Amino acid sequence: MGDNAKFSIDGDNFEYPVLQGTIGPDVVDIRKLYGQTGAFTYDPGFTSTASCESELTFIDGGEGVLLHRGYPIEQLAENSSFMEVAHLLLRGELPTADEYSEFTNTITRHTMVHEQLRGFYQGFRRDAHPMAIMCGVVGALSAFYHDSTDINDPAQRMIASHRLVAKMPTIAAMAYKYSIGQPFVYPDNELSYTGNFLRMTFGVPAEEYEVHPAIEKAMDRIFILHADHEQNASTSTVRLAGSSGANPFACIAAGIACLWGPAHGGANEAALNMLHEIGHPDRIPEYIKRAKDKDDPFRLMGFGHRVYKNYDPRASVMQETVREVFETLKVKDPVFDVALQLEEMALNDPYFIDKKLFPNVDFYSGIILSAIGFPTSMFTVLFALARTVGWVAQWNEMISDPGQRIGRPRQLYTGPAKRDYVPIDKR
Ligand code: ACO
Repeated sequence: MGDNAKFSIDGDNFEYPVLQGTIGPDVVDIRKLYGQTGAFTYDPGFTSTASCESELTFIDGGEGVLLHRGYPIEQLAENSSFMEVAHLLLRGELPTADEYSEFTNTITRHTMVHEQLRGFYQGFRRDAHPMAIMCGVVGALSAFYHDSTDINDPAQRMIASHRLVAKMPTIAAMAYKYSIGQPFVYPDNELSYTGNFLRMTFGVPAEEYEVHPAIEKAMDRIFILHADHEQNASTSTVRLAGSSGANPFACIAAGIACLWGPAHGGANEAALNMLHEIGHPDRIPEYIKRAKDKDDPFRLMGFGHRVYKNYDPRASVMQETVREVFETLKVKDPVFDVALQLEEMALNDPYFIDKKLFPNVDFYSGIILSAIGFPTSMFTVLFALARTVGWVAQWNEMISDPGQRIGRPRQLYTGPAKRDYVPIDKR
């Protein structure tokens, strides 16, 4: 613990302990502030607030560093697999060979969904956005596992976590299949987590589907890059929903709803749409001008981040992965050139330099997902699929924390003071 933070209000002095993490900024522990002073802190958007203690993920936004349980994201993306990262986040360490085989086997054996769950899809219009379907169907999972999930039992929490991680690819692939009018494809236990997802998405019952190893590897890496990102909006949503003791499947549905927004997970869809709209490098200056114009609501999608005030390390890996996939598949997409030139121009522009706006993970992810064959409406679904690992790991960590309490922020009230009711004929 460091020196106390000194605080004075209305002439009275107070001291609050300063807590130190392993790395990262110190934290002023103001838990007693309201009780002692009668004042709240005011921090809309939580830009200066640590909402919890966590051992999972560390971000140094100034330096562009992202660590999962200490391991740099670049090393995990290069050497690891999504299942290994899932094990690391959920169970605390990279697995040994035996642990890895036990873990992947467990996940593989939970990939099927209850047959009755298939019925839920029929209730959606054909043109429903797959994220709307994800919110509904994942929420519906809570009805299948409500009585069997005692969240105070760590073993049952782990089973719920396995179910969520395992079933999410099946549910996501079914959302896609439903939207294009093709039959659902059942999981294949011979395939990897990612290979199985590709087959359920792009395979059809009428013929064999061969998983392309380069695409499988790229997709797996994309999942790694999205696995967790400390207390972002959707993760905080999952924690807040879970803090009341709610059913974990319902909590994850809440996280999916939050992720859908264009300022969060929906930005990958918006970024690719924007790149297509720009269409040609000649038009980049026009869009940069619009992004800088205070009177124009347009923003460069895939640019800027609440925490990164440097290059998002996931964006560099993503850019590299686009190159690799294009080379292997021998494809070219003019939109990639637009993206590269847009990035270069923005990074040399004083507006973006001064505000420390850099490409984030979403800037390049749409290009690669589109090359693999996903429609833009599926991009955020893939993000949700991968982030489920982080959500359940964070949810587990929260429930097992003995200091955990229901999340209940306060407010600065600016509405009318107490006044008397006026009957309708007197208003
Ligand atoms: N284009 C143009 N200007 C921008 C952009 C952008 N993409 N992002 C931020 N700015 C400007 C803002 O207008 C603001 O300017 P001001 O100081 O003159 O008012 C300043 O930079 C700070 O931006 P804020 O919105 O206050 O920063 P905040 O931390 O609240 O927002 C956010 C971060 C939401 C990510 C924002 O940068 C944005 O909207 N980016 C585009 C959407 C996007 O790519 N989202 C994905 C985030 S990553 C993820 O969820 C996986």
